[in-house]
Amino acid sequence: MTNDSATARGHGKLIVFGEHSVVYQRTAVACSLAGGVRANLSTMGSPSFHLQTINGALEVDERVRQAADRLFSTFQLDPKQLTIDVQVDIPLGVGLGSSAAMATAMAKAAADLKGLEGAAQRAAVDKAVSASEAVFHGTPSGIDQRAARGEGFFAFRSNGEGPRFQPLDVPSNTWLVARVAPASSTARMVQSVRRLRDGHPRLIEGLLDEFGAVADAGAEALADGDWPRVGELMNINQGLLSALGVSTEVLERACYAARDAGALGAKLTGAGGGGCIVALPDADNVEDVKQALEPLGDVYRHDLPGQSDNQR
Ligand code: PMV
Repeated sequence: MTNDSATARGHGKLIVFGEHSVVYQRTAVACSLAGGVRANLSTMGSPSFHLQTINGALEVDERVRQAADRLFSTFQLDPKQLTIDVQVDIPLGVGLGSSAAMATAMAKAAADLKGLEGAAQRAAVDKAVSASEAVFHGTPSGIDQRAARGEGFFAFRSNGEGPRFQPLDVPSNTWLVARVAPASSTARMVQSVRRLRDGHPRLIEGLLDEFGAVADAGAEALADGDWPRVGELMNINQGLLSALGVSTEVLERACYAARDAGALGAKLTGAGGGGCIVALPDADNVEDVKQALEPLGDVYRHDLPGQSDNQR
């Protein structure tokens, strides 16, 4: 051990195209959020584990403890011997990548405690975050983990040879995220898609190909700053997600409320079954779309890519 204490950050993420299909090796597009998680670790104080959220302190539940155990064991550290302070400044468990952000913050801090640097640090952090994410996600695609590094917009595709990451240079724009329903379990939603695919392999594989085509076209439209096209593709993506059974009446209603108020596009973001939608307003109707969504839940404005999105 070379440091007594360490602090590190992990970023949340917004998936714009391709959640779920990314689990089946199709392209997805996401952007890191400026917000996320800060973790402070110390070997000096009395051992404890505190989790502070935007809504106050949160009890560290069994799943978080299990994820932390797995994460720290990859560094040969025992969390019961550490003072762990975690501060989360994005909503938890609603598809904004809080679990990967938390794991990344803790893993980077743990790597720091161990004095790891450069490529050795990145490899150790990746391994630790994967171990932790398996607890929350079952079979994570790795997109949240990649976004947690804080790298702006990117296209992502995992295949047999590991993830392919392509940074996207996207003009800055305002995006609205509305949290309109309680969180659902990502692992459960991913499993429900797997069941559907097992039952209708040819049909769902065909749908997954369409998801991939939408995300590939979406990456291009984003890089071109062709916002009307981005919006249309988001709406198509939402239709596909609905076909996979991961949308809900509440999420659909929120998408229509945003579109009726003039949004160019709206879709659920994350695992679905609850949680958040993302809407892309036009430059002159940001307030209208925001106001249309406000009765349905908390609305967050993100100017993406944010300045701090490129922090590493
Ligand atoms: O856990 P969430 O809600 O941020 O969603 C993760 C995205 C999925 O594609 C549904 C799962 C994955 O591992 O990529």
